[in-house]
Amino acid sequence: MPRNTPGSTRVATEPIFTPYQLGTLTLPNRIVMSPMTRARTTSEGRVPLPIEAVYYAQRASAGLILTGGIYVSRQAVGSINVPGLYTAEQVEGWKAVTSAVHTMGGRIFAQLGHSGSVSHPDLLDGAMPTGPSPINPLQKMFTPIGMKDTITPRALTNTEIKEIVKDYGTAAKNAKEAGFDGVELHGANTYLIPQFLNLALNRRTDEYGGSPENRARFLFEVLEEIATVWDKNRIGVKLSPTLHGVGAFVASEESLPTYHHIAERLNAFTPAYLHLLRAINDVSNSPLAVLQANALQHYRSIFIGTIIGNGGFDQAQANATLKEDDADLISFARLFISNPDLVERFSDGSPLSPSDPQTYYRGGQEGFTDYPRRVASGLS
Ligand SMILES: Cc1cc2nc3c(=O)[nH]c(=O)nc-3n(C[C@H](O)[C@H](O)[C@H](O)COP(=O)(O)O)c2cc1C
Repeated sequence: MPRNTPGSTRVATEPIFTPYQLGTLTLPNRIVMSPMTRARTTSEGRVPLPIEAVYYAQRASAGLILTGGIYVSRQAVGSINVPGLYTAEQVEGWKAVTSAVHTMGGRIFAQLGHSGSVSHPDLLDGAMPTGPSPINPLQKMFTPIGMKDTITPRALTNTEIKEIVKDYGTAAKNAKEAGFDGVELHGANTYLIPQFLNLALNRRTDEYGGSPENRARFLFEVLEEIATVWDKNRIGVKLSPTLHGVGAFVASEESLPTYHHIAERLNAFTPAYLHLLRAINDVSNSPLAVLQANALQHYRSIFIGTIIGNGGFDQAQANATLKEDDADLISFARLFISNPDLVERFSDGSPLSPSDPQTYYRGGQEGFTDYPRRVASGLS
């Protein structure tokens, strides 16, 4: 019996294989590749390398690919070997990536990010990292001479904040020129946007601090700036409302109201989607306890647009979540590292390969483009 017979049945019955209309973009399935920084950009000037085009093209059967975080400016840098989208050379490098993905029939959004205080002078030509307030985010940094602890940053001035908003707009314009199908604003984990959202990191007393509205002001100014370049149905937002206990990033009584406010306001903005990290750690004894069981359902009742669910999903959970209508799409990160043909493996029940965390951020091909496709129905 041909190996793809069971696959045909799965494709016919499982929600993850149904197409999805994302604005004007038709996704052939609901399996999204979640953004992953892979630190392979060893080039001078943070220009993506040909090997990165190969990596993304290998994964083009995903309904949608989201790149790893891309720096929107020189000041946004927070790691070695991570690419940018603020120079003409970088735009050219990304053109090779988008064209390789499109040639393979895929769709790809650029994830735009700024490290803010989660950086180090060794990564910024000696300049101080900047953030909403002079509070050490207590993270570990990949610097040219090894891992280092973050330091206490300098607080951004009001004028500097406006300049950073413009930098996102420029990077968004560059993403369009580079041939991306859209952009995802990186508002998750420990990046600059969550630094503004988190009360522990943002002690400002101006219009960017204090109330949920004020702490979310930067996020919405960035979104509006990006919307001067892209149709809103090509702008996604990734948030991690469940983040707690990562260095100085701790949740407070303000966290839930802040994300509630954002989800409501996004209804008016009408982005392409809201990409949400559900609780993958124990937050049951924190102010986020209500999000422990089903963060996606929680935000589904507030946000009326497309939701991408993320965080430790396997195939069965993804199908169940779609069936329950708690999300419209499901993103997978680690599974896509070691299974470039994740969609095909899901479809014919081929076993999944485990990924090696030792090579997540290590340079070169190993653990990047050398995970084989499955040996199954001759599709490799
Ligand atoms: C190696 C690695 C790099 C990551 N880099 C990013 C990133 O650049 N931007 C981002 O939003 N999330 C990043 N993440 C988080 C993933 O997108 C995802 O939210 C997380 O891994 C949970 O999904 P999973 O359980 O399917 O792996 C990264 C995860 C991994 C494993």
